Amino acid sequence: MDYHRSIRVFDAFPKTEPVNTVRSTKGSYSTILMGFFILFLIWVEIGGYVDGYIDRQFMLDRNIQRVLNINLDMLVATPCNYLHTNVKDITQDRFLAQEQLNFEGVNFFIPDYFRVNGDESQGSTLDLDEVLRESALAEFREKKSFTGGDAPACHIFGSIPVNKVHGFFHITGKGYGYRDRSIVPKEALNLTHVISEFSFGEFYPYMNNPLDFTARTTNEHIHIFNYYLDVVPTEYKKLGIVIDTTQYSMTLTENPGLRNVPGIFFNYQFEPIILSIEEKRISFVRFLVRLVTICGGIMLIAKWIFRTVDKLIRVVFGKQVANRGREKASSLL
Ligand SMILES: *[C@@H]1O[C@H](CO)[C@@H](O)[C@H](O)[C@H]1NC(C)=O
Repeated sequence: MDYHRSIRVFDAFPKTEPVNTVRSTKGSYSTILMGFFILFLIWVEIGGYVDGYIDRQFMLDRNIQRVLNINLDMLVATPCNYLHTNVKDITQDRFLAQEQLNFEGVNFFIPDYFRVNGDESQGSTLDLDEVLRESALAEFREKKSFTGGDAPACHIFGSIPVNKVHGFFHITGKGYGYRDRSIVPKEALNLTHVISEFSFGEFYPYMNNPLDFTARTTNEHIHIFNYYLDVVPTEYKKLGIVIDTTQYSMTLTENPGLRNVPGIFFNYQFEPIILSIEEKRISFVRFLVRLVTICGGIMLIAKWIFRTVDKLIRVVFGKQVANRGREKASSLL
């Protein structure tokens, strides 16, 4: 007898208790309900296991990559012949960006969906799945071209390799701030511009950056647009795929008055940290342990609820009702 009792303690399903054997409808309903509940939780857990979880971490950027690209695609309302483009950084390495980029004379226009003189600070860190979906890597046309230098506006596009240090990319009129063969008449300058791509690192055309699809207009010929870009290297990892990219935050000041060189300045600096966004999965063993723990917990709680309800019935309706089933049961035997 004692032996049986101790076994019963280990029995997870209280339905075997004599009190419950007969209130069978109630008992089996709750068993079925509990079964469904457990199945539901297992299903949720398996879903969570398959999907993994997103782990975001900042770490020191140990990447010794020294050079990366600025990818840009923009339109300036000044003829290409009058424009001077340049990259300068603290290593004093001066790339004549002119040689790295494509220039194409076009008419100036601002596409409808561009944000004009708006607030670009609404960029956010992309979702991991979004990145994987949109990480089609592209290369700008390799051959550098210069066409239509006299057209009213200039379409500038391409990638400029820059040192991964603080620096700036500058677009201005010929003869302003740099020694050029000619000086552009002030009246010919219009630094109104449209940016459809401005990014650092590998070029992923479908990833949105704060400057993408923005436009800035000015009614002054001598005007200064100063963009300050803080670049954070960002690494996305999922299922063995690693996407190395960057994101940046942007601040714009216009006409600071200190510099009298007109132009569009992109001042950039790289943060020494890297943001890693990775999809991780708990180990299978841990997953199993979790499942077992959850099921065990539910059973324990269910047992407790059954007992409490049972006690309540006894207290409220008296022993008679609680034992009614037993009499029926014995009469059946
Ligand atoms: C520059 O071009 C834009 C768009 O065509 C125009 O709105 C703006 O007034 C022009 N600015 C100057 C200084 O001519």
